[in-house]
This record gives sequence, C-alpha cells and structure tokens, in this order.
Amino acid sequence: MKEPVLSRDSALVHTFREAWAELSGIGRAPGGGYLRFAWSPAEIALRDWFKAAAAARRMPVTHDGNGNLFATWAADDGRSGGVLTGSHFDSVPHGGAYDGPLGIVSAFLAVDLLRERGFRPTRPITVAAFAEEEGSRFGIACLGSRLLTGAIDPERAAALTDRDGLSLGDVFGAAPAGARPDLVAGFDAYIELHVEQGRALTAPVGVASAIWPHGRWRFDVEGEGNHAGTTLMTDRHDPMLTYAFTVLAANKEARLRGAHATVGRVEVTPNATNAIPAAVRGWLDARAADGATLAELVEAVAMKATERAGRDGTAIRFTAESTTPEVRFDEGLAGRLADLLGGVPILPTGAGHDAGVLSAHLPTAMLFVRNPTGVSHAPTETATDDDCAAGVEALARVLEELSARPLVDHDEGVGAP
Ligand code: GLV
Ligand code: MN
Ligand code: MN
Repeated sequence: MKEPVLSRDSALVHTFREAWAELSGIGRAPGGGYLRFAWSPAEIALRDWFKAAAAARRMPVTHDGNGNLFATWAADDGRSGGVLTGSHFDSVPHGGAYDGPLGIVSAFLAVDLLRERGFRPTRPITVAAFAEEEGSRFGIACLGSRLLTGAIDPERAAALTDRDGLSLGDVFGAAPAGARPDLVAGFDAYIELHVEQGRALTAPVGVASAIWPHGRWRFDVEGEGNHAGTTLMTDRHDPMLTYAFTVLAANKEARLRGAHATVGRVEVTPNATNAIPAAVRGWLDARAADGATLAELVEAVAMKATERAGRDGTAIRFTAESTTPEVRFDEGLAGRLADLLGGVPILPTGAGHDAGVLSAHLPTAMLFVRNPTGVSHAPTETATDDDCAAGVEALARVLEELSARPLVDHDEGVGAP
C-alpha cells in the first residue's frame, strides 16, 4: 500500500489554481452558475481549450463522429490499449463549475505530473471529453458515451430536438456515427474523476462503488384552457392541479422507499396568468438504490397521477425519455485503486456519469473529489483547491499504475492482475 494521497502539496495546489482559472470564466451566466450546453458557444470554447491543452502537451486529438474528443499520450514503442480518462464539459442550466470540467482538467494535469516525474507510458494514456453528458440540451443523459458504445441508435439521436426545435442532426449536419466498438475495445480501462455530488465523502478523495439506477420520465397532462375569471371552479379541467398532485405524489412515494424523486422542469401552455392552462408538461427524475424499487416508485407515481387525472377531468401520459440501470463498478478494480491511494473510502452515488455507460464495455472506475457543501447542479457547487490537487495526484497514481500494470496483458493476451 502506498502512502495516503497528500492534500497539501502547495506546488500542485498552485498549478491546479492556475489551470482552473483558464476555464472557470467560460460559460459563467449572469444569473449565477454556468450555461455550458452541448455545442453552445461556451461548450465549443471549452472544446477549443481542450485542443489547445492537448497541442501544448503534444497529444494528438481525434474525434469519434459522435461529438466526443480524445487526446492521446502515446506509448514510447507505439503499443495500443491503455487507459482512457476524462469527463464532460456540458452543464445543467445554471449548474456548477466542477461537474464535468474537473475530470478533464485533472486528467491533463495528471499527465503533466507524470511527465515531470519522468514517467514514460508503456500503454497510451488518453484524455476524453464526452458530449452532452447532462442531457440538458437533447434530453438524454450521457448521449455521447451512449452513441460511442451503441447504447442509442444514431438515427434516433439525430432526431432529438432541443428547446428551440433544432435537432442533433441539424447541429452535426448529418446523423452521428454511432457505435465505435473498434475504439472502445482499444482501451483497457476507463477512469473518470468527478466532484462528489452529495455530502457522503469526508476524505479529500474517494472511489466509486456503484451508481443508483435512475431515469427521466416526461409526463404530459392535457386539460381544457379557459377563462380564469368566468369559469366556475366546478366546471374546470385544470391540468395544473393534476401536475401539482403528481409532484407531491412523487415526493411522498420516494420518501416512503428511501428513494429520490424530483420534478425540476415544467412547461405550461399557454402560460398566461389569467387563463386556466390547456396543457402542462413536466419531467420526473427518479432514482433508487435498486432497479426494483425504482420501477415500483415510478409505477406508484403514475398510478396516483392517473387516478387524480380522472378526478380532474384531465388526461396524463408518462413517457420514459432516458433510463439508466444500476451500475456496479468492477469491485476488484475499485479495491485495488482504493488501496493504491492509501485506503480511501469506497462509496456509491445517486448521480449519473459516462463511466456508468462505459462500465458495460470496459473495466471502469471513478475517483471522487470531496464536495464540502454537498451542493451540485447549482451555482454554489464547490471543491477546495487542496482537494482538487489531491484529486490530480490520485488520478496520476492511478494512470501510472494502470499504464504500467494494465488489466489486460497485451503481450500474453490473458487477463493480468
Ligand atoms: C447527471 O449529473 C445526473 O445525475 O443527472
Ligand atoms: Mn451533472
Ligand atoms: Mn457530471
């Protein structure tokens, strides 16, 4: 076991602070937090930053036809395989600085640290920036990694539209490339460093054990638009009532099961102060510790909402937009990395990540950096420079370990340690 990861290497803290300052102004929103939607000017500026960071390190950049970028530090003897690491640049509306970019900045800084220490990779180390992880623009979480791994049909993805009615196909000028098994199979492992998004991690750095199964269900409530001043209360078919009941039911049913349910997005038609709405559309985000509990939760909410619609004289329809099954990260790999980092905690998360998608195809692990307030997907999300530096150190050790002692023995063609 190596010595625990140091959180107060002042040179590294300084290096992190300088690198972080290069991009922490990009996409900052006047109303607070960040607007870094996929392929928006801010996210494109961050992609340009990625290309410049790679060029400065002599790491050639490639893309996969799905909007995902890769920068590779090649092995000395041109060997293939190796470790993939990275995260995403996009954010939720008015999201935090760290969710996503921290994993990419830390990956480049880990490369610098390894080079400073004279390390020469015997397997390549590749830094990735995945596209549309939050699904804030086109509605499906981890869209870039789903396309890369074939988890979503590229024609279906091309037809997804954003809030302005622009499709992904319009943004690309064509359908995305879709599954690239050739690329995925070329990596031995994927390691994603990410800010922790609750208050569960009390050490500077931890390792992920699992991701709760989760998903997004759109619900459309149809009623009858009418005058707010003249329509008798007994004559109304008000979809807002069905909507409000559904939100409360989701909260109650989640609490009963120790699960999480949120309605954070709503659209009202016609959205007038003095008119009973004709329609309300909401989005239910639901998550639970296991798939059976999640299915039971969503079913209970849909059943109660449908009963209520019957009483309101409205109609409600639920549509699954994006679902992700439970992810259990490779236990052996998580344990090996936690030991390597001096016995850091191993913990599950309720947040989704590209690592969850890739874990179905590659040995995958996540490193978490402590979140002192536990706030995420909000402007006040934060992490200390000391902890971020500890994250860079931890990632460097992990990349060194997996590059030098890979999970797959390419020379023998058999599984290694
Ligand atoms: C992504 O961060 C999610 O958990 O929705
Ligand atoms: Mn997020
Ligand atoms: Mn994220």
